[in-house]
Amino acid sequence: MTKLAIYPGTFDPLTNGHMDIICRSLHIFDGVIISVAPSHKKRPLFTLEERISLIQMATENIPGVQVEGFDGLLADYFRKKKGAVAVVRGLRAVSDFEYELQMALMNQRLNIAIETVFMMPSEENTFLTSTAVKEVAYFGGDIREFVPKVIADALYEKLQVSSVQY
Ligand code: COA
Repeated sequence: MTKLAIYPGTFDPLTNGHMDIICRSLHIFDGVIISVAPSHKKRPLFTLEERISLIQMATENIPGVQVEGFDGLLADYFRKKKGAVAVVRGLRAVSDFEYELQMALMNQRLNIAIETVFMMPSEENTFLTSTAVKEVAYFGGDIREFVPKVIADALYEKLQVSSVQY
């Protein structure tokens, strides 16, 4: 039976830290579904459709990756996904742990079938967050080592930053 992981998040935008977790997941699971949440409360810079399309472009050469949006509870979405055996989340630092544990336990309470698998990103990605990348780009800093090229281009365009030299 095909064993799929669900990797949920806001991905506003996807970073190399997320890419790292996706690639690591594929060593363990037959495939990964990148499940993009609208996360209205976070007031994302990119629309849901833009985030999905950017992730599709960034992962198009990685076999076993699917990208889609989901709304509502992760527990309900997981229940409906054929072949889903685990939720994957990245654990970057001790500061992530408490929030991630809370979320994993709540998801488990809502759907007993959910196993959450935590993966450690490589050390060089532990400081990355989507917010930090957006801030660096906003002030004209170079983000090309933090995100896939397609994402960097889209972010500079979205923020109308023209001072970055390519
Ligand atoms: N590399 C780089 N950055 C990473 C990362 C990694 N490996 N893992 C996480 N991050 C970043 C994210 O980019 C995000 O940065 P930001 O806050 O600057 O945008 C941050 O760390 C994590 O944000 P968080 O809010 O924890 O997760 P998320 O926004 O990526 O996703 C959902 C949260 C969508 C999974 C969660 O809200 C959810 O399941 N929602 C559905 C509703 C639901 O079921 N709620 C009940 C759950 S208890």
